[in-house]
Amino acid sequence: ALKGISNSPHPHRRHSSHGTPHHKRPIKRDHAWMDGSDDDLEVKRSKKHTGTPKKSGHGADHPRKKPRLSAPAGSSSSSTSKDASIQEQRKELPIYTGKDAIVDIIRENDVTVLIGETGSGKTTQVPQYLLESGLAGSGMIAVTQPRKVAATSLAARVATEQDTSVGGLVGYSVRFDEACSPETRIKYVTDGMLVRELLGDPLLSRYSVIIVDEAHERTLRTDLLIANLKTIQQVRNAPADAKGKASAAKLSPLKVVIMSATLEAEKFSKFYNNAKIVYVKGRQHPVTIYHTSQSQPDYVDAALRTFFQIHTDRPQGDVLIFLPGQEDIESLEKSIQLYANQLPKDVPGVLICPMYAALPPSQQSKIFSPTPSGMRKCILATNIAETSITIPGIKYVIDTGKCKEKRYVARQAGTGFDTLLTRDITQSSAVQRAGRAGREGSGYCFRLYTEESFRKMPVTAEPEIRRCTLTSSMLQLKCLGQNFEELEFMDKPDEETVVAALKTLFLLGALDNHRGLTPLGRQMAAFPLEPPFARALVASIELGCTAEVLSIISVLSASSHLFVDTTEARDAAADARRKFRHLSGDHLTVLNVVRAYEEVAASESKAGRRDWCRKMFLNERCLAEAMNIRAQLRDVCTRMKIDWRASAGDNEGPVLKALLQGLVLNTAFLRPDGSYKQVMGPSVVKIHPSSSLADKKMPAIFYDELVYTTHVYARGVSTVPKSFIAEIPVFRLRTAA
Ligand code: CDP
Ligand code: MG
Repeated sequence: ALKGISNSPHPHRRHSSHGTPHHKRPIKRDHAWMDGSDDDLEVKRSKKHTGTPKKSGHGADHPRKKPRLSAPAGSSSSSTSKDASIQEQRKELPIYTGKDAIVDIIRENDVTVLIGETGSGKTTQVPQYLLESGLAGSGMIAVTQPRKVAATSLAARVATEQDTSVGGLVGYSVRFDEACSPETRIKYVTDGMLVRELLGDPLLSRYSVIIVDEAHERTLRTDLLIANLKTIQQVRNAPADAKGKASAAKLSPLKVVIMSATLEAEKFSKFYNNAKIVYVKGRQHPVTIYHTSQSQPDYVDAALRTFFQIHTDRPQGDVLIFLPGQEDIESLEKSIQLYANQLPKDVPGVLICPMYAALPPSQQSKIFSPTPSGMRKCILATNIAETSITIPGIKYVIDTGKCKEKRYVARQAGTGFDTLLTRDITQSSAVQRAGRAGREGSGYCFRLYTEESFRKMPVTAEPEIRRCTLTSSMLQLKCLGQNFEELEFMDKPDEETVVAALKTLFLLGALDNHRGLTPLGRQMAAFPLEPPFARALVASIELGCTAEVLSIISVLSASSHLFVDTTEARDAAADARRKFRHLSGDHLTVLNVVRAYEEVAASESKAGRRDWCRKMFLNERCLAEAMNIRAQLRDVCTRMKIDWRASAGDNEGPVLKALLQGLVLNTAFLRPDGSYKQVMGPSVVKIHPSSSLADKKMPAIFYDELVYTTHVYARGVSTVPKSFIAEIPVFRLRTAA
């Protein structure tokens, strides 16, 4: 029996007859596959397929009937010169035939919209073409990505193609991490980093080409960039006599290339005064799509079963599973590993590769390296693998139909915030996900949802600017002397969201009551932090506790949680956590952990550190990332002549006061019935069970965030004397009113 998994079929036995999908399997909780051959996508793809001339090596299907243990060695490993083989690979990409035409069009146009199927070579090749053709002149080429992990992995790939290491000719720059040098000419950056660069260099004068990649995702930062690039071009690309300031500085014209994998090109083109649109012919093989006959509420379990059905019944070819987020990925990874360890000897082994935003770069490479012979690769990815990165060798896609989406929750009076919600994907995402199976040969996509659910999905997602908090971006725009209300966007943000952001910035002291930027606001914008944390950091300077506040907000800015949530060893975890507990709550508990970790790190080896973290039920990745973040923030402090060593010692009052300045909107008072009521909003909140203050009754609390489940929970909670809250100027106004 397989321990630890309930409802688990013995996958390789039970489904051994599943060579073809069934329509009506009577077994409950099992999912039968419906042949989706009449699906729109299938028809469209097939048509495209016949229209694409077959090229040697690419048009050919994978040898379906090949015994699965004799996986091909991979063309690169058989080559004598690695470099030569990589150059060959570059020439085989669909975009290669259009190389000269693309360079010419970009040379002749200020703005070019480039559309091409995922994997055609847009992101990796276009910057190299521009560099090699000399079009970029002496300026840099920036390629923006919505996600950090895409920026770093693409930079690594392109550096290899250029036969250099990352940080030389090809570099990257993402929040809290950078690999660049004076030699860098092609730079992969997150859209957020480039927006940040605007603050110090409003005309982006270091760049001669900006490639806005994955534009269809319409992230808030991408939209901000698209808007700003238009105004920058008006200055930099204006006729010589009208140039004024820019011509005095002798700035070269700026080329803008908008790249996207989906077909909604017209909107971008229209925004840039009918910019030229170029379509790159992709190479897409037919993908057979199956839907489940019933919906699958437990999509992780459904993915597990489907994976083993494929693994035991289907010919070789790697599997890509789309999941909403890191937690689901980690949980499915464990389950698959558990099963895989018990497979009979004649079934190929499983190589599991997770891929999500917070994955450290060191662990990304195995996704791209050829699958070892006798193995099947199983990639567990978030929607990052939808279009941002192309993974070779995928023949099967399992699509849970879920993703995580940032969304503004307006329930707090006027001052909302973003939460990550798991939700259904869009049709456009579903089509992209299925397409990942047909890159190198015909493939299969198993959708863990019904055909009806597919039809009910929205066609495309709403741009982030219409559904996210604008606070941080608004502060950045204010530093550029721009107003959200006046900037020309592709889609205008909601009036309500704009007002909420203005209000938040006002309450944090970043704006005055004429909506003007205050010196405090400018100081806050200098830190790559969310405005509340930036405010706390600035407050710590005056209160003499920058060292402590830096440690705490570094942990809170990391991409994973500090404490490992475990259901198996809950008591042991609680015992371990108690060692760090601080009476005031979670923030100083975090500080205690950081201090303990620093001591361990100073004396222990890497392995010793890992051991200690495991014993203490701490997430080492979070701590390592936090240390890195803190180092970067210390650098910013040094540049701003702020003493980051200033410490309040054992006096916790100043630390809590500083944090409270930033989290001023996240405060609540105890009510006689034991619940907490927000000071600045209408919600009644409970303390999250993970908090060290869970079930405690404190007169006043502040918290990092609200989590919506069955209740509204406050997470990351500390208690402060009510007088601390009353002392804050904005509250004095409020309580007086
Ligand atoms: O941007 P687009 O989707 O058009 O394609 P790309 O990202 O430029 O990818 C072109 C090729 O490079 C694909 O075949 C990828 O598999 C390959 N690639 C890779 O091998 N390793 C990476 N880290 C990134 C891309
Ligand atoms: Mg791309």
